[in-house]
Amino acid sequence: MRVLRRALGTLLALGAAISCTAAHGDDARPHAGRAPAPAPYERLLPRPASARAEGAPYAFGAGTVIRTGTSAPEEVRRVGELLAEQLRGPSGLPLPVVEGEEGGGIRLRLERGAGELGAEGYRLTTTPAGVTLTARTPAGLFHAGQTLRQLLPVRGPGGVPGGTVTDVPRFAYRGAMVDVARHFFPVEQVKRYVDQLAQYKINTLHVHLTDDQGWRLAADSWPRLAEYGGAGEVGGGPGGHWTKEEYRDLVAYAAERYVEVVPEIDMPGHVNAALASYGELTCDGKAPERYTGTKVGFSSLCVGKERTYEFIDQVLGELAELTPGRYLHIGGDEARATPAADYAAFMDRAQQVVARHGKTVVAWHQLASARPAPGAVLQYWGHDRTAAAEKAAVVAAGKAGHPVILSPADRAYLDMKYDAATKPGLAWAGYVPVQRSYSWDPGSYLAGLPESAVLGVEAPLWTETIATRADWELMAFPRVLGLAELGWSPASALDWPAYRLRLAAQAPRLTAQHIPYYRAPEVPWE
Ligand code: ACM
Repeated sequence: MRVLRRALGTLLALGAAISCTAAHGDDARPHAGRAPAPAPYERLLPRPASARAEGAPYAFGAGTVIRTGTSAPEEVRRVGELLAEQLRGPSGLPLPVVEGEEGGGIRLRLERGAGELGAEGYRLTTTPAGVTLTARTPAGLFHAGQTLRQLLPVRGPGGVPGGTVTDVPRFAYRGAMVDVARHFFPVEQVKRYVDQLAQYKINTLHVHLTDDQGWRLAADSWPRLAEYGGAGEVGGGPGGHWTKEEYRDLVAYAAERYVEVVPEIDMPGHVNAALASYGELTCDGKAPERYTGTKVGFSSLCVGKERTYEFIDQVLGELAELTPGRYLHIGGDEARATPAADYAAFMDRAQQVVARHGKTVVAWHQLASARPAPGAVLQYWGHDRTAAAEKAAVVAAGKAGHPVILSPADRAYLDMKYDAATKPGLAWAGYVPVQRSYSWDPGSYLAGLPESAVLGVEAPLWTETIATRADWELMAFPRVLGLAELGWSPASALDWPAYRLRLAAQAPRLTAQHIPYYRAPEVPWE
């Protein structure tokens, strides 16, 4: 009886929510203020390719089960179990995962022939009998489950409004990066970030593992890199490093959430921690002191020494062996201590090493000024004041077949301060308020670069000034949600006045997850 009454309450609440749909369209004021909450399908973030509210809702109750079908692959069962885990806490329901085909509840359907749903798309259909998630791949089913989470109340069993969502991503690569070199963070914090990101359909985590201030991943062939080179960080703290086992664990955890890890070993610059660990890597054979400041562009591998190439072959070989993903990121940025001809010669050989270990190169866009190898991916991190010639080199490379990841520093860098009052963060690319970070179109961002050359977007978080989880999450949230939408939603869906309301609606979810997000004044937070 209690369940029935609760279900009835849910239906009434949903009816009220749906009937206010029409009201919010003309209330998209540019500044914060009171605005009616959007209806359930309009709260979804990232905004789906299509969503239609129709018919009566499905009420969650004590009898609700998650069905994976009788002959579903083990992976679908795993997606169902993870979804159950994610829904049990908020709903307070047992939500057992069962195999049966017949009956109501939440049904996960793998439909290999559903070509229109692509590698990650899904359909979510809700009637009073249940919710059916359909996808061509388990990744699509996972994303459908994340949409379902957002259609349910933050707390309590609630219900899902009747209707259909049909959704596919605009870009294949939707990433976030974290720099664990300037300040060290344990794998547990990175896993927490993976969970936070995956619910907004981000599918790539780039980890910046090495820099002047620290080397964060153990390598058996060069043990002092982590043991000595990892024992420090900006400001003189103790630093730390991940064991290979911890890294493997992170990669597996991310993969279960359909997030691919892209590890970065930055070279030939940003290598003071490596040089401090092994003097044989410098041209004069003398190891420098470890570095705890925040300058860039002062260190370089010794391009003329054969030992350098043995080093990168062994280190990248171990990393490739640990990494099931497609990509190895080799940095290549700010190599100011490496003469241009040496830089090009070094990057030629580093790219060959990556290929030999069976991976695809990703590098910061400075590689465009040298000789990107066939298939190499360029990550653009320029900004409005970047020289036209530098942008033109990236556009030319993109037109020549190099996929481009867009991380414009004055839009996508999560370590840029929101405004003058932001305590952590830097401002060399300017302040990046929430509206600015959202208001650009990746498909037309670099003049002359066709959308077909854009692999996707990535939001990097550099940690020169970020030493705590609270500061990390304050800088990432809410801006990383905007990047998630830019990567996923169709161009026609990108619209700040509507986005700010969808973002505002995420507030109770972020709060329930104990994320100390920045309450930007331009958003009418719920
Ligand atoms: C960078 O910000 N140096 C890629």
